[in-house]
Amino acid sequence: MASQSSSPPADLDASGIPSDLGGLRGADLLSSADLGATQTRSLLLLAHQLKTGQRRIDLGGRMLGLIFSKASTRTRVSFTVAMARLGGQTIDLNPQVSQVGRGEPIADTARVLSRYVDALAIRTFAQAELEEYAHWASIPVINALTDQEHPCQALADYLTLAEVFAPTSSGQLDLERLRGLTLSYVGDGNNVAHSLMLTGALLGVNVRIGCPPGFAPDPAVLEQACLLASSSGATVSVLHEPVAAVRGAHALYTDVWASMGQEDEQENRDAAFAGWCLDEQLMAEADPRAIALHCLPAYRGKEISAGVMEGSANRIFEQAENRLHAQQALLAALLGGV
Ligand code: CP
Ligand code: NVA
Repeated sequence: MASQSSSPPADLDASGIPSDLGGLRGADLLSSADLGATQTRSLLLLAHQLKTGQRRIDLGGRMLGLIFSKASTRTRVSFTVAMARLGGQTIDLNPQVSQVGRGEPIADTARVLSRYVDALAIRTFAQAELEEYAHWASIPVINALTDQEHPCQALADYLTLAEVFAPTSSGQLDLERLRGLTLSYVGDGNNVAHSLMLTGALLGVNVRIGCPPGFAPDPAVLEQACLLASSSGATVSVLHEPVAAVRGAHALYTDVWASMGQEDEQENRDAAFAGWCLDEQLMAEADPRAIALHCLPAYRGKEISAGVMEGSANRIFEQAENRLHAQQALLAALLGGV
């Protein structure tokens, strides 16, 4: 997997700096498809450089507001630590402790907060609510998970894939090596699946979604991902049989069967997803080098077996760590640090 080549990977300029990130200054990240293919690759390269200590960026006292209407461990903490590492801070602006919870309009909240903080990371239910914040805010708005997408997660996920399948002897990543790999996601066609499809399509990774009938991804997102994939030479497909979905794949990925906000459907979903656990039998159908991924939190014995969670293919905790590095790169780009 490691390269013997000494030529610089694509997307690095002569001094080894990821290119095409300047255009992200002041931008929003509401969907994985808001990033172009080169921007996505450059963010992954910058994340890797930050992680390995090849780059340090100090944004100088910038402030990120966190508006989280749903629970979070990884996203909240990794954004907080990422800002601290960039020399900035975060402030919790949860609806329960702000006037948003008492009905203050988003239009007013977004305009006020834009005068205090430099960016907002928002975790909520409807994508339309996130879009309303972005419409009224004059600062970057970042999707920290909606019912529709989880773009920050997908950046960390493909960074993890690249660290395994695309390292070079010079300590960089050669993201061209991701082309032609297959990532198979087994489970609900949800927010995480949507962002995996879009970012995978941008990077030239084939993405297969394996799910029971009735739990397929949003057809509009599938169409968008297929369109992006047609430019990168990849494919995005949906299959309703687990073994066919994972056969020969290089990464097997799963997520909870009932997402936040679907707690009432838990029992029905547990029944519908019977036979869809990412277990040792499914891993055995994949490429021998295949890695196991999960965005976490995980429920052992449901969407993933304890054996896969703790087995040799597991890269799940590296993946969780990569949330920090990917978001540090993203914040640096949106806040003009690169
Ligand atoms: N994967 C993820 O977003 O985790 P949290 O819900 O803990 O933030
Ligand atoms: N699909 C899950 C992801 C959690 C990080 C949810 O939305 O709850």
